Amino acid sequence: MIPTLIAQTNGRNGRAAYLPFGEKRDGALFNQSILSVKQFSRADLEHIFAVAGEMRMMVERVGSFDLLNGKILAVLFYEPSTRTSSSFIAAMQRLGGGFIPINEVKYSSVAKGESLPDTIRTLEAYADVIVLRHPETGAAALAAQYARKPIINAGDGVGEHPTQALLDLFTILEERGGIDGATVTMLGDLKYGRTVHSLARLLSLHNVKLNYVSPDVLRMPRELAAELDARGVRQFQTESLDDVLDETDVLYVTRIQKERFANLDEYAALKDSYIITPATLTRARADMTLMHPLPRVGEISPTVDSDPRAAYFRQVEYGMYVRMALLAMVLGKA
Ligand code: CP
Repeated sequence: MIPTLIAQTNGRNGRAAYLPFGEKRDGALFNQSILSVKQFSRADLEHIFAVAGEMRMMVERVGSFDLLNGKILAVLFYEPSTRTSSSFIAAMQRLGGGFIPINEVKYSSVAKGESLPDTIRTLEAYADVIVLRHPETGAAALAAQYARKPIINAGDGVGEHPTQALLDLFTILEERGGIDGATVTMLGDLKYGRTVHSLARLLSLHNVKLNYVSPDVLRMPRELAAELDARGVRQFQTESLDDVLDETDVLYVTRIQKERFANLDEYAALKDSYIITPATLTRARADMTLMHPLPRVGEISPTVDSDPRAAYFRQVEYGMYVRMALLAMVLGKA
């Protein structure tokens, strides 16, 4: 069934956007690769989130529907993933499409030495869109140079993770009703954490203050901070969460990225730099939103999970709606 109803987005920010479901439109993302958050304007974000709100409503109403019937998604992951790969697959299935899962490239012809361009050119013969995670920064852009079909960057090394940043923003909207005016504190591994690189750039399209809390050796990359500074974003760097906790509206916690360290002794010395516990939250705002892209490996105690401010598992669910929206838009159905 292709729904024909006119749907209203139901975000708590009160936006009302009416878009016909199932009507083909050549929107801004139609047939486009999603490689970096740098490609998005604020108007693009509002459009994506309006469609994601509709996807949420449709899933709550009917579970799945045939918007992308006949379309196929290739899921090509050179690095481990639970959320990104599963949510793209779930998104495609809820939209009535099919998928080719290559979640473990060692069982593909990559293990025989096949290059990324050849792998992409092969998969696009079968699929309409390819989601790619790769350990090298720029891999998704390279893939897009060879592809005739859209490539969606699901994380390229320490570079970017644009769809994570989109779902992070959607989470803030859904949980708080808006983004402008917020103070967002990013905590943990800001050097290697690609999610914070993408999120900081997307937040810079809004009126926000960004606090960076990290060990000195894991600071936000200087070039990225300079890029945001040139756009007039207020930024503050510290090693102590206590310096900024009481002004924080959104606390975005990240794990120390073990896989990016050449020296595991250095990782071991840093891995427990910050641990969020119920005691931390007693000093935080009553309406703070606690987020994490996950997986966590100790930086948020499970004893925090029952606190209503802990939004990270709701964040996981929002990710599926955002990825449904992106697939529908890239394939010209929203
Ligand atoms: N947040 C995220 O990218 O999770 P996965 O590594 O499990 O996909």
